[in-house]
Amino acid sequence: MTHSPRPPDLPHLNLLPPSRLKSLGVTFPFLVAPMVGISHVAFRELIRSYLPDSLHPLLFTEMLSTLRLPTESLENLPGPLTSVGESCFVPQLLGNDETHIAESIEKILPLHPWGFDINMGCPASHQLQHNWGVRLLGDMDYAGQVVAMTKKHSPRPVSVKLRAATGNTIDLNYLLEFTKRMEDSGADWITLHCRTQNQGHHGYAHWEWVGEVARARNIPIVGNGDIHNWEDAMTLLKTYHVDGAMIARAATARPWILWQIAFQLGCREKPKAKWETEPPWTPDEEGKEYFLAVLRFSCLLEKYFGDSDFALKKLQFFIAQGSRWLLFGHSFFHAVRKCKTLIEVRDFVNDYANKYPQPMAQRSRT
Ligand SMILES: Cc1cc2nc3c(=O)[nH]c(=O)nc-3n(C[C@H](O)[C@H](O)[C@H](O)COP(=O)(O)O)c2cc1C
Repeated sequence: MTHSPRPPDLPHLNLLPPSRLKSLGVTFPFLVAPMVGISHVAFRELIRSYLPDSLHPLLFTEMLSTLRLPTESLENLPGPLTSVGESCFVPQLLGNDETHIAESIEKILPLHPWGFDINMGCPASHQLQHNWGVRLLGDMDYAGQVVAMTKKHSPRPVSVKLRAATGNTIDLNYLLEFTKRMEDSGADWITLHCRTQNQGHHGYAHWEWVGEVARARNIPIVGNGDIHNWEDAMTLLKTYHVDGAMIARAATARPWILWQIAFQLGCREKPKAKWETEPPWTPDEEGKEYFLAVLRFSCLLEKYFGDSDFALKKLQFFIAQGSRWLLFGHSFFHAVRKCKTLIEVRDFVNDYANKYPQPMAQRSRT
């Protein structure tokens, strides 16, 4: 059964410029990024727990190695790749070999992914050894072939997520030529992380670069990088005229960010799991909700991964990312790091949240 979501009730959507993602059936142009160690099944369920019922944004999986996928069990990776009946998820593939890509797609298709994404942005050295990730960005013939072979085997839309540049400096002409090659090779849409390879995940993301790419291309172009809050996400669309905004680390601090965006666009439906009729807005409300989200997430991790050391590490990693938006996030994270079980974390968070309520900043310090 392919899930076909009803369109969300967003009366103010026309406050945003028209998005070409609509041609692919995507009516809410805000997405949540692939993040290794974060965007697994429990995280996607956390994000959905903060979503009005009619909202079905595209949520990416962690990057998945096409070398390993064909022989792995999708029910136990460890933990399942997806929840029962999950829809609107996009598996991100890492690879360059047609046989492995074809086998990986074939393996995942029965789970009804919305589409497939190709990673062309990972700068990790062990991935570069295989000539994939950001390496593909350095060779457009080769990258074009990877897109074409993925398209050949995928009945679902195929996207590419890339960085703005290898090395340290941007060559805008190369970026425009590269993205044209991706389009000509069959990519249905592209996400651009507006930082160079050397920037890693740090520093300012140059949204003007994705604006240039969006102007030049005929397929939807999504901007990513340095989106800290709902206003940043809207600005990216309104000012740079891209087709969508992909939120990454900010979703680990404010997993309700898509609810905030939907509310700003006029959606008055509330998430089933919440009794509040509005998302948290003020720094104090967000700070309070953060600790509730951590508790909720710890339960979801236990649901999918058991009361295991694996689940504990995932919780600690999630807190390492998101606590940067809290006033005293650093000391909170260091205390959580000392906990030895999920239950210990829960007890600690309950106590800490009561003793040290604290505001959440609009932007993180790093
Ligand atoms: C912990 C972590 C893991 C990531 N894993 C992936 C990944 O698997 N695939 C990918 O394309 N990008 C990955 N990224 C990059 C993010 O998708 C995103 O491009 C980046 O964090 C920039 O957005 P931000 O500044 O809003 O966080 C990762 C980033 C982080 C912080």
